[in-house]
Amino acid sequence: MHVEIRHPLLQHKLSLLRDKGTKQKEFRELSSEITMLLTYEAFKDMPLSKKSLETPLTETEGYEIKDDIIIVPILRAGVGMLEGILNLLPNARVGFVGIYRDPDTKQPVEYYEKLPVNPVNPLVVIIDPMLATGGSIIATIALLRKKGFDRIKIISIISAPEGIEAVEKAYADIEIFTGHIDSYLDDHKYIVPGLGDAGDRLFGTK
Ligand code: PRP
Ligand code: URA
Repeated sequence: MHVEIRHPLLQHKLSLLRDKGTKQKEFRELSSEITMLLTYEAFKDMPLSKKSLETPLTETEGYEIKDDIIIVPILRAGVGMLEGILNLLPNARVGFVGIYRDPDTKQPVEYYEKLPVNPVNPLVVIIDPMLATGGSIIATIALLRKKGFDRIKIISIISAPEGIEAVEKAYADIEIFTGHIDSYLDDHKYIVPGLGDAGDRLFGTK
């Protein structure tokens, strides 16, 4: 299942993010803001538990998040979304998976992994701004499933149709929330129109 979140505020910010004139600082700020908007939609159906509390006037019933939420940014570019999602889910735990695309083969190469221990009925949210071929996200899901994490959502800023199809073919039960499904992948497997290399634009490496 995938959802393309078509909110005017999101589309406005996404256009600024795509613009090649947008510099590192603004790019990072926009990535955070867009992630908050995506998170808001992706957690629309989150179950809550009831909780009694006292206002200054009276006793009343409130709610709290009951899931053990684990956010997993895919290094590096996923880190650019971390602050945004933690703004809305400050008590979530964070695990890291390091994967890069081999520049020649475009296949995912895993190089790091650090996940929270002793999760209780966890809900994992993988964050990565770009879902291109889907290889990096499929490798991350495979790694998480091997460790026993079953409930997984994906939040990406921009996706290619080819990547969404690949992820859904490999894992039919995964929910993907994305800010936009773009047109296609070019010969170098970059998303078109896309925004270029997310990691380089976030961290100024090129
Ligand atoms: C980018 C991006 C995704 C991956 C998407 O990472 O952040 O992780 O490519 O491509 P895929 O869907 O075809 O696998 P990259 O390999 O550039 O690494 P980086 O984040 O370290 O720059
Ligand atoms: N990784 C990126 O950063 N951008 C793309 O368009 C594809 C993969």
